[in-house]
Amino acid sequence: MNSFQENISKLILSKLGIPINAEKIGYYLDTINKKSSLIKKLSEEKYLEYLSDNTTLANEEWKILISCLNISETYFLRDAGQIEILEKNIIPHIIEQKRSSKRIRIWSAGCSTGEEPYSIAILLSELLLFTADWDISILATDINGDSIKQAMIGEYMDWSFRGVPEDRIKKYFTLKKNLYRVNDSIRSNVQFIENNLFTTNYFKEFDLILCRNVFIYFDDPSKKIILDKFERSLVDNGYLLIGHSEAAHLIPSTFETIQLQKSILYRKTLPKKEIGLESKAKLSLPAKEKPQAIPLNQNRQILVFKTNEKEILERAREFADLGKVVEARNLTEEIVKSNPYNHNALFLKGQIEEASGNLESAIEIYKKVIYLDPLFLESYLTLSSLYSLLHNSSESAKVRKAGLQCLLHDENLKQVYKDKGYHIESLESFFSEESGIWL
Ligand SMILES: C[S@@+](CC[C@H](N)C(=O)[O-])C[C@H]1O[C@@H](n2cnc3c(N)ncnc32)[C@H](O)[C@@H]1O
Repeated sequence: MNSFQENISKLILSKLGIPINAEKIGYYLDTINKKSSLIKKLSEEKYLEYLSDNTTLANEEWKILISCLNISETYFLRDAGQIEILEKNIIPHIIEQKRSSKRIRIWSAGCSTGEEPYSIAILLSELLLFTADWDISILATDINGDSIKQAMIGEYMDWSFRGVPEDRIKKYFTLKKNLYRVNDSIRSNVQFIENNLFTTNYFKEFDLILCRNVFIYFDDPSKKIILDKFERSLVDNGYLLIGHSEAAHLIPSTFETIQLQKSILYRKTLPKKEIGLESKAKLSLPAKEKPQAIPLNQNRQILVFKTNEKEILERAREFADLGKVVEARNLTEEIVKSNPYNHNALFLKGQIEEASGNLESAIEIYKKVIYLDPLFLESYLTLSSLYSLLHNSSESAKVRKAGLQCLLHDENLKQVYKDKGYHIESLESFFSEESGIWL
């Protein structure tokens, strides 16, 4: 990096908590150049000075910088495993705890264009909580002012609904000229505010904070600052739900880790002297949700017994969902070693590498998966997204085009993916996109 690139990266890291590495800085500055007239007008030194000022005008320039980061991908009821846990475990448990006060506070931190907080409002409405005797509020915040404006408007294209059942869409949205508008009964329960998690003061007294798919952008010190602030913002026994393996190693010690089959969540425990009260509020899990014991050898490595590949892969997926990267990687490697043609195991290996930040290695693996099974569309989806993330739009477009060809010319394949729960029009529209980042 040259000195301007280094200085602007440092400024972004200190203000937004997001590290921009040497691989990405060139493309990022090109994007800013397209959107900002100021960066062209001022010398590099003056531009940095301008950004460092705490003025309203500088804030406007920061908005441009934030919008160029392209980090707003989201959709309704994202992550079926976490949604199920919210529905079946977390929200019922909060209701149980709040039966006397009848007051619940939820914060969707890094809410992007609103799909996440509106999803939570839908879940609450299905549990009949928006009634006169319950005082419920959902706060939704994001650093990107444009996303917040869009969230307030509450109109969405069908790509925001990938995987959402038709009946839920019909019940909570009204179709208006190709856009789905969230109904007022849901919209009126969410309050949106533009807010930088990294620098601003914190809101208080939350029973649940969701901050999913946000930590992936931050470096560890920034994650730690935010987690400590979340800890202070939660009530005792309050829940924190973050993306899989996003910051598991940095969770403050006052949090209890609750491992469920489909996800992991954190609960703020009571101060030590009050710990006796805690068992009353224990989260009750159905027996099938309890994590199973995994056989270990003397070196505490996982033992793979002679069982079929499908079972081992299932177990590896469970580990990956719980953020146990080492265990997941060991199991997938074991399968791939004995059967290098198992494209499902290879694909999971690619996802693990991607989640661990080994993007180049993930790319090679996804390519291999396509080579082994040219009709495995998941690999086209992830590979093209990864190329977009690395700003290689020409490779991303090539992969999308190849995915589209498969889909358009094979009716059976459409049926296979329909059965897997994909919305075919959305898949087609994803593959038809020329560029853009899908995180
Ligand atoms: C990938 S989206 C995740 C949206 C949603 N939580 C989900 O899981 O679908 C990440 C969001 O985090 C927001 N974000 C990034 N840095 C932030 C910060 N410092 N403060 C607040 N929001 C931030 C981005 O603007 C973006 O909208």
